[in-house]
Amino acid sequence: MRKKVIAGNWKMNKDIHETAGLINELKERIKDFQNEVDVVLCPPFTSLVVAKSLVQGTPMKLGAQNMSQHDDGAYTGEVSARMLTTIGCEYVILGHSERRQYFKETDDLVNAKVKKALKVMLTPIICVGETLEERESGVTDRIIAAQIKGVLHELSSEEIQKCIIAYEPVWAIGTGKNATPDQANQVHKLIRKLVSQLFSWSLAEKLVIQYGGSMNAQNAADLLSQSDIDGGLIGGASLKSDTFMAIVQAGVEARIP
Ligand code: 13P
Repeated sequence: MRKKVIAGNWKMNKDIHETAGLINELKERIKDFQNEVDVVLCPPFTSLVVAKSLVQGTPMKLGAQNMSQHDDGAYTGEVSARMLTTIGCEYVILGHSERRQYFKETDDLVNAKVKKALKVMLTPIICVGETLEERESGVTDRIIAAQIKGVLHELSSEEIQKCIIAYEPVWAIGTGKNATPDQANQVHKLIRKLVSQLFSWSLAEKLVIQYGGSMNAQNAADLLSQSDIDGGLIGGASLKSDTFMAIVQAGVEARIP
């Protein structure tokens, strides 16, 4: 059975003091959990070092929200994959729709970043998802297929095993309007089928596919109990310990057959 991965994408929220406050609250509450799900926190770059010292000895792991496709050099403002691993990051979110929309990231660029992340053993959480316009014009499947092919281009079977895919419909992000469990599950099944065609069914059935987009304490149980939804990538609801822990709890309960 696939282990659920519940990840908080804090986006551009929380300075180091607020980071310490939230992680200290999470630490109190997470004591009751015994690694039934993987819990990942993705604060801004500036909070990663502080966050690392605070999550030490807890089941919580650390991820970044982006990284460069380059190893090092004259790339002002960028952070490399190795810089992330040396401070204890184990995950990195790549190709988030906000990066695609505001910073013009393409599938090719995301693919290059995925390859770099894998080289240093960072687990990439690779985001795909359609816009509202694309959904309404009935091209969701085509858009998702193109994104999956693009971001996984020329990965080996060994590499795909180390990836996580996050399905984040753009229209559901930060809008309070989540995809219904059935809508989301259908796209997750499509992603698994596409990966089985690109690689093999045995790899596809092990692939963790998270859902992201207005997941909250109320809808998490329904979403996470779907057959092909293996976790959540949570924005707004990850910024408060009570809502985030409610989603972690939903993940724990959803794994019980
Ligand atoms: P919200 O949970 O705020 O909709 O954000 C989802 C997201 O973009 C996570 O990466």
